Amino acid sequence: MARLILGVLISGRGSNLQALIDACATPNFPARIALVISNKADAAGLDRAKRAGIPTATISHRESDFEARLDAALRAAGVELVCLAGFMRVLSGPFVARWHDRIVNIHPSLLPAFPGIATHRRALEAGVTETGCTVHFVREEVDAGPIILQERVPILPGDTEASLAARVLQSEHRIYPAAVRMLAEGRK
Ligand code: GRF
Repeated sequence: MARLILGVLISGRGSNLQALIDACATPNFPARIALVISNKADAAGLDRAKRAGIPTATISHRESDFEARLDAALRAAGVELVCLAGFMRVLSGPFVARWHDRIVNIHPSLLPAFPGIATHRRALEAGVTETGCTVHFVREEVDAGPIILQERVPILPGDTEASLAARVLQSEHRIYPAAVRMLAEGRK
């Protein structure tokens, strides 16, 4: 079976990228990563890609033709699905339209609850007893596209932003590869 060709966009640590790298290295996983692009030259995730032998590129968002260069690099690599993994830039409407249903994102809350940043702090402040994470298609409106997969994560007494983030991150690392598998197998 031809594997779905992924391009992963990152800005930092890259632990979700690592989860995708690890999944792609397992037997019969129906996708492979052709290219990792960071908008930050010092993103630790670039080293994760290099260690795995995956081509990398840095394209600064300060360049006036940032999105045109992103688009060209993704197309040149034959990318079929763009995975945002801690990519801290909002993509424009025209870019998102050009890649309609071919960009996905992982977000650390149970969308539509807590879109945007500081999700864990806001969940703790709201006093909810559970949160989670979501893989969704990207639309022009931030954190608002159709949901592909979610996982619930309990909020425990005494949780801090850090302890909750760590628990949710474990869940993120499970559902991002699972969602990519679903898409690659044509189940979503
Ligand atoms: C994750 O919590 C992800 O959900 C959010 O940004 C964080 C990125 O972490 N969009 P990492 O770079 O994948 O480790």
